Amino acid sequence: MATENALIEEAKKARENAVAPFSKFKVGAALRTPSGKVYHGCNVENCTYGLTVCAERVALLTALAAGERSFDAIAVVTQSDEPSTPCGPCRQLMWEFCGDIDVTLANLTGQRVDYKLSTLFPKPFYFSLES
Ligand code: THU
Repeated sequence: MATENALIEEAKKARENAVAPFSKFKVGAALRTPSGKVYHGCNVENCTYGLTVCAERVALLTALAAGERSFDAIAVVTQSDEPSTPCGPCRQLMWEFCGDIDVTLANLTGQRVDYKLSTLFPKPFYFSLES
């Protein structure tokens, strides 16, 4: 099974495929299942801007489309002064499909920070209808 450091390396590899001609901000994500399988994601921008998809969501949707339903860790790598944290919509989606997973954020200069998703996203949206 990939260790957290190995997961960061996977996220770096994923980042190499980022499609970020507009922001120039390349993001890579590596999402790990309990069996140790790793799914890559990178951000994909397009000329409407609004249809941009984040690296975290690409990794998650790729894994879900492959039939995975259980996840235990994600690493996200950016080229920023400090490791940058996932956007709100990605936090919501990760919470719904991954639960309280380990989130490791890193930059290219070797800084890293580890969170549980519940720390980054303490009040997720959910609904239940009145019966
Ligand atoms: N981005 C991600 O890939 N993940 C995030 O959590 C936040 C932002 C991407 C979207 C866009 O391509 C670029 O970073 C700048 O916002």
